[in-house]
Amino acid sequence: MKINEKITSVGKIDWELKKFHGEELSTLHGSSYNSYLIQDKKNVLIDTVWYPFAGEFLENLKKHIDIEKIDYIIVNHAEPDHSGALPYLMSLIPETPIYCSANGVKSIKGYYHKDWNFKTVKTGDRVNIGDSDLVFIEAPMLHWPDTMMTYMTNDNVLFSSDIFGQHYASEFMYDGKVPQDELIYEAMKYYTNIINPFSKKVTAKLNEVLAMNLQLDMLCPAHGVIWKDNPLKIISLYQDWANSYQENQISIIYDTMYNSTRRMAESIANGIKQKDSEVVIKIFRSSNTDKNDLMTEIFKSKAIIVGSPTVNGGMLSSIASVLDECKGLSFTNKKASCFGSFGWSPASVKVMSEKLTEAGFEFIGEGVKSQWRPDEISLEKCVEFGNSFVEAIK
Ligand code: FEO
Repeated sequence: MKINEKITSVGKIDWELKKFHGEELSTLHGSSYNSYLIQDKKNVLIDTVWYPFAGEFLENLKKHIDIEKIDYIIVNHAEPDHSGALPYLMSLIPETPIYCSANGVKSIKGYYHKDWNFKTVKTGDRVNIGDSDLVFIEAPMLHWPDTMMTYMTNDNVLFSSDIFGQHYASEFMYDGKVPQDELIYEAMKYYTNIINPFSKKVTAKLNEVLAMNLQLDMLCPAHGVIWKDNPLKIISLYQDWANSYQENQISIIYDTMYNSTRRMAESIANGIKQKDSEVVIKIFRSSNTDKNDLMTEIFKSKAIIVGSPTVNGGMLSSIASVLDECKGLSFTNKKASCFGSFGWSPASVKVMSEKLTEAGFEFIGEGVKSQWRPDEISLEKCVEFGNSFVEAIK
């Protein structure tokens, strides 16, 4: 699909993808592996696609260009979702120069064990391709150490790699053409689950790029739709998201065996509501909620309250998994507490409080416990806990 006179999108829309990074990350709206062909005085291919689509990719590419006429290949990021078709392509044009970062060379060699014609580039290096220059901007850890972005002068296009991406399949390839709520949600889910641990680097990189005073007519990420109608919108969202983002939301996340912990969760929610009619309260059962959607809700929350009954001296496995994931995603500036029912031993609250602190949450109070099935008195204690939690985080 033509993006402008010189740039053609030659990637693959993967409508059926439901899991990414193996089985780790849910992609309920599919995804795309974006590859861009620039035809100026020189012909340049930016990135490829995931290897299951390598054959289709090459067939399609041949409709746009004689493969032999590709002058340069740019690998903004060597993760296999973008470099997977490289071995097939390079088997046809083995001498073609590949422009990438120094870490890109390591990644490509590590995956494909080939010593192709690498041209290592750093921030500020540029290659003239005719009317335009391609300027490289390293962006380590966004999302891997090898990542870089490529800016095309004159056309004012930033090929941004994973940054500003979304796992979002759409035949309408531009931001203005798709439902906005859906698009922004998918961009936020992507940020939360992939980029958030590197938020400090996001802020630094955005400041660096904005200081370059580049005109940005289009942001072309490596996944999802192109930001063309309003490229500054996603930059502004990234600035907010990278800055300890939170909304006026408290999420209660629990799992339960015999509904005792569920009853506690609902009573805590009532207690919050009594004291704060404005705050958005959401309750999730961790064992039946998509993990990555749940992380996105936690990302939006100013505080979370986590509940589990005591099992084997600890917590239910779905809650353990949530807390582990939270630690990995490095959320900042969020408060937390916890609750749980127990029969013989009240261990879960202590274990969860330690895990929440370890994951970087500011732990509030001491949590609340209930032995056996909570009676009216126990549920009232949960309401009071909700009251005091809201007061404490004001
Ligand atoms: Fe889309 Fe980090 O690869």
